[in-house]
Order: sequence, then structure tokens, then C-alpha cells
Amino acid sequence: MVETIAWRDSKVVMIDQRLLPHEQRYVVCEDYQQVADCIRKMVIRGAPAIGVAAAMGVALGMLRAAKDEDLDAQLEQICQTLASTRPTAVNLFWALDRMRRRYHQVRHLPLEQVRQALIEEAERIRLEDIEINRAIGRHGAPLIPDGKAVLTHCNAGALATAGYGTALGVIRAAWEAGKRIHVYADETRPFLQGARLTAWELLQDGIPTTVITDNMAGYFLRSGRIGCVIVGADRIAANGDVANKIGTYTLAVLARAHNVPFYVAAPISTLDLNISCGDEIPIEHRPPEEVTHICGHKITPDGVGVENPAFDVTPHEYVTAIITEKGVAWPPYEASLRALADSTP
Ligand code: MRU
Repeated sequence: MVETIAWRDSKVVMIDQRLLPHEQRYVVCEDYQQVADCIRKMVIRGAPAIGVAAAMGVALGMLRAAKDEDLDAQLEQICQTLASTRPTAVNLFWALDRMRRRYHQVRHLPLEQVRQALIEEAERIRLEDIEINRAIGRHGAPLIPDGKAVLTHCNAGALATAGYGTALGVIRAAWEAGKRIHVYADETRPFLQGARLTAWELLQDGIPTTVITDNMAGYFLRSGRIGCVIVGADRIAANGDVANKIGTYTLAVLARAHNVPFYVAAPISTLDLNISCGDEIPIEHRPPEEVTHICGHKITPDGVGVENPAFDVTPHEYVTAIITEKGVAWPPYEASLRALADSTP
């Protein structure tokens, strides 16, 4: 399995996801500003992976922090820089809060021990994420029909996490359990996470995969070949509304129209139970060049208007179930999500 991100020799190393699948190049970050830049520019992307990167960014920042300056203030500066990179995936803010909490537990210790504690916490977040994804896979695999195709959007795989993946983790677990699966991967314009990343990951595992353009989803859902749709999430509100990659909402409506189950797979750290519904989720708008250009080639005329919202919100009524590491939440989500969040695994 590809290594998305690692702490190595007091540096943060991550595979450059902008270059995949044709080039496997690693970026080495020597300071937290570089980590922030990598998150902003999508060298690393996917909600849980962004969380791990932010945690490692904090550890890196504190490793380079000036000994004789206010450490609390430096920690806050580092966290604020990392928090300003991408607004939608709540895992980023969850990871920063966890690193802040750890810092406040150990801040009275000698600086070297504080630094070590933060490095260990970031590594714990990374390792836990892989275990969480395997648990999501175990809970979700029984929902995947045997002998039918599965449609997914964007990349909610090993590359979007510390490893194994959420939505692709469920697909992997079903495949490992012997289910006959064929994956349809939406290409996912404009950043092409499906065509480039999901297709690459699944081919490496030998899972049969077909890439389709996003506007083909209705055709294939109508064909009767697709047994379920499964996607990841960037933030889930208390009522079960799901923010995920732009185009997810369209898929959910299409799935409902064709009576196909629509599943969301996400860790508990993607739940934002402080917000009641999806209207409160901040939606990132990315640079217009992602729409006007494909792989460096301009495709639109000069002067045309462009919009590039990176995420949309799928209302909870279109979501059949939400698969987490603690079990599967079914509607009504207010009760089931809170019960799962409060339960011990
Ligand atoms: O813009 P991205 O590539 O970071 O968006 C990623 C997604 O929307 C994923 O589906 C989501 O983060 C879940 S990843 C396990």
C-alpha cells in the first residue's frame, strides 16, 4: 500500500498527489509553513490525510520553535497558519485541537520532552487513522452487494488517509472478503481525483475498475448495473448532512431516483456535531485555473466567468447510512450519530 505521509528524520514526507499517477515523487517538508503550503496546494488532500498532515505540521513547527520565545504564542501561530489552509474538512481542525490538547498536557516539561510528546501524538494520529479505516471497512463490507458494480466519487482511499481509505476501505474489505466487485470511478472534475488517484490505487490492488466522466453517472445508475454508491466525507453535521467533493450531491439525488443505496464512509473525527445542519459548513472555493485548465492546457475562452466550489452538501434524506469505525449510523441521524460518537469502540 502506498505511503501517503510519514515523519522521517525530523521532516514530514508526503507523496505529491498532483503528479500521480504518472510520477511518484515525494515532497520533503522542513518547516510547518511548507506543510501548510502542501495542504493548500493539494500535494496532500483528503480529509483524514489533511488532519495527519496538520498534526505533523504542528510537531514540525514546535521542533523548530525558538527556545527563548513564548512557546504558547508560537504554537498558536503554527495552528492558525495550518487552520487557514482549507476550510471544509473538519478533520484538520480536529487534529489541531488534539495537538493543542497534548501540548497543554506537557507544556510544563523540558522543551525536548514537549517536542517528543508532540511528535509521538502526530504519529499516533497517523497510526490510529489506519486502524480506524480498517474498522470502517469491517462495518461497511456487509453492505456492499456481491456481483454488482459500486460507484464512487473523488478519492476516499489510502491516498486520502494515512492508509487503506474510508469509502475505498469498505470496497477493499468487501473485496478481501471475496465479494465480486467492479468499481466505477467518477473522474471527478476539476481535480480528477477519481481518474488519477482512485483508478491508480484500485488497479494496484487488482480490483476491477472503470473510469467514467462525472456526467455519465446517470446513464450507469439507470442501467441497473450499480448495486450501491459509496463516498467519503469532509464534514458531517449533526443531522447527517454530508459535505463531500463537488458532484456528490448530484450522485446522491441520482441514486435515490434509481433506488440505489447511497452510503457515506467516514471516521468519527469527520462528524461536526456542533453544527446542526449542512448550511453551516464552510465551502471552499478554489482557484479558477482548476476549471479553465486541464493538465496545464487552457480549455476556456479568455474573459469567461468561472466558479469553482470544491465541495457540496448532500442533504441527509439522500443518505442511506453512514459507516464509521464504531458502527453504521442509520436515519434518524441526530440520534444515531450522537450515540456512535458517545460510544466506546
Ligand atoms: O479536495 P479533496 O481532494 O481534499 O477532497 C476530498 C474529498 O472530498 C474526499 O471524498 C473526502 O475528503 C474524504 S477522504 C477519505
